[in-house]
Amino acid sequence: MVRAYPRIIAHRCGGVLAPENSLAGLAVAARLGCRAVEFDVMLTADGVPILMHDETLERTTRCNGLVAERNFAEIRACDTQVPTLAEAMDACRRHGFWTNIEIKPATGHEEATGTTVGEWLAAHWDGNGVVSSFSEKSALAARRQLPGATFALLCEALPADWRARAECMQAAAIHLAAECADAAAVAQLGVARMPWGCWTVNDRRSADRLFAQGCVAVFTDRPDLWSSEEMQPT
Ligand code: G3P
Ligand code: MG
Repeated sequence: MVRAYPRIIAHRCGGVLAPENSLAGLAVAARLGCRAVEFDVMLTADGVPILMHDETLERTTRCNGLVAERNFAEIRACDTQVPTLAEAMDACRRHGFWTNIEIKPATGHEEATGTTVGEWLAAHWDGNGVVSSFSEKSALAARRQLPGATFALLCEALPADWRARAECMQAAAIHLAAECADAAAVAQLGVARMPWGCWTVNDRRSADRLFAQGCVAVFTDRPDLWSSEEMQPT
């Protein structure tokens, strides 16, 4: 059984209300009364887990080039806003956030990223949240370090072999793209009594429709659409 899955999860820290995957985003989420956040974690060239979505730096930072080819000090020197996993988790702990740590490996670094993030979490995390990754290799490497943690199978559309994949990583939930939560997927998950959440849901009507179908949580870029009271655990 999934422990205390929250209904509203701020996507990439504060959604579109702050720079993505930033401490500023976590502060915005806290101000709004969010109880849960999601962010992406990638390794720098020297193996530091940082919050980063893209394999390249251009879109979200003042730096350029591949994340996997830059040391952390170089990234910090050109953009002071990029948080380490340690800094982000410290903020999450202070705000009391349930946290979805999405492992986002650069190509070719799947195993190392899963292992490093898993090791860090095993040493420092209280387990209040869930670990996921589109990379099965990363998820399984992290799972080896975190035998007691909650994991979710992260996918776009529900794959035909989702049961086997979920079993392999002992996933307690599935996170799928909202547009892929069709009747067939919802029925399969319902029959299997597998909790499921949807990303990325940026309007309340869609969220309400998904909740009515059995969705347990939505990841949103617009956590401001819900009141603080609505985001409290029920
Ligand atoms: O983990 C849910 C969602 O964040 C997956 O998509 O690309 O925003 O990391 P993406
Ligand atoms: Mg993500």
